[in-house]
Amino acid sequence: MRETKTEKYIKDLRNTMVKVFGRNKRFFQGWFEKMEPMTFASVLKNPIYNKRDVLYSLEPPTGFLHRTGQKNELIMELAPILMGSAVSCVFVYGVPGTGKTGLIFDLMKELEQEADNKEVELKTAYINCSENRTETVILIGLLNQLNPEREYPRMGWTRAKALSEFNNLLEDESKQVLVILDEVDYVLKESGDDILYRLSRINNSVKSKVSTLVISNDVRVGDYIKPRTQSAFGRVKVIFSPYTSDELFDILKERAKVAFKPGVITDAVIKKVAEIEAQRNGDARKALELMDSCAKIAIAKKRNKITLDLVEEADKNLERDQMLAIVQTLTQHQKLIYLSILKNEEKVMAGSDIYRIYLEECESLNIKPLSERRVRSFLIELTEMGLIESEVGWLASAKKKTRKISLNLDKAVKNKAIKLIRDSI
Ligand SMILES: Nc1ncnc2c1ncn2[C@@H]1O[C@H](COP(=O)(O)OP(=O)(O)OP(=O)(O)O)[C@@H](O)[C@H]1O
Ligand SMILES: [Mg+2]
Repeated sequence: MRETKTEKYIKDLRNTMVKVFGRNKRFFQGWFEKMEPMTFASVLKNPIYNKRDVLYSLEPPTGFLHRTGQKNELIMELAPILMGSAVSCVFVYGVPGTGKTGLIFDLMKELEQEADNKEVELKTAYINCSENRTETVILIGLLNQLNPEREYPRMGWTRAKALSEFNNLLEDESKQVLVILDEVDYVLKESGDDILYRLSRINNSVKSKVSTLVISNDVRVGDYIKPRTQSAFGRVKVIFSPYTSDELFDILKERAKVAFKPGVITDAVIKKVAEIEAQRNGDARKALELMDSCAKIAIAKKRNKITLDLVEEADKNLERDQMLAIVQTLTQHQKLIYLSILKNEEKVMAGSDIYRIYLEECESLNIKPLSERRVRSFLIELTEMGLIESEVGWLASAKKKTRKISLNLDKAVKNKAIKLIRDSI
């Protein structure tokens, strides 16, 4: 049956609301009831955002601010790669949201560009260890990036097999390799420091020149590294300190210029958000989220501007994010299943596909998986909690009757949920 104009209007409106509020309708229903009455026109007309996604992008619109010192230090440390020598283990440390991952990505691009100019054969590989917590999965991840012509299996290989393939790949004399292990504390806590030890010694046994850079946000990361590895690692430390209120102000202001329509947010609001977050952990990610929360409240209150009086309410609202609060209460395997769904890019997913991704997640995180039957029952529970939408039916892409799963989350909330799950597993 064809959709009527009114049905289409209501569907579009619902999608717009979900986009603006970033949650499943069920979650913000209670909040809506307490608000002033809205009209369709008032919701559809968005006077606040110009490009909301920019608030959540890793790459800032005008580059990383207040990080010249760290960038210079890293350039000094990594420059020998372009002159043909390997760099022994650079260590980057800083609390969450201080720009470590983003700045390193920036530098990787610059380094690759310069290597190209200088005709240095350089390959870089980046692994996030919060998602890859054993030496074997890290090695397979590195293999897949360093040798994209071949597809290495994410499951089923022993450590010895992965290691011998890794060593074989590095038997090329002319090659420079830079390995970056981000959030390395996860693998150290889960599987010990074997991977770091191996990388610190690798240049004795292969012909390629392998440099390593590790990033951590746990201060006590040294406690997890044995003395035999410490001697090679951690000599060069680049510290990313928490941002001050003035630094956060500049970071927020640059994003606000692109994210919001002109004149929507004042310096006073940005200053207040910066002060609040500087007093907490000096975390730029949190500061950007708080600024976004202010914008959402302004829209809900049908305002054209983000004013100072909204900041406090926005801050409280952020803490009360119901969807994330529910995610926090899930059991470990429910979290893993939800993570598998969040990471799938398909609009409608089949239960069996989710199980396959779940098995890969378990392997990467070094967790023993549950049976498919158990996972199916968890999918029903997640549906009942309102975290996913699902029903049993015919799925054309899978060519069978299966549980069809869909998610109605915007990218920002999705990323937040993924991070929250990774941090808590
Ligand atoms: N100096 C900066 N200038 C502009 N934006 C920044 C700066 N530092 C951080 N950000 C922004 O803050 C967010 C978090 O940055 P990033 O992911 O690089 O932090 P991190 O230190 O790797 O955090 P974590 O330890 O949680 O992984 C990103 O959106 C990033 O663009
Ligand atoms: Mg990071």
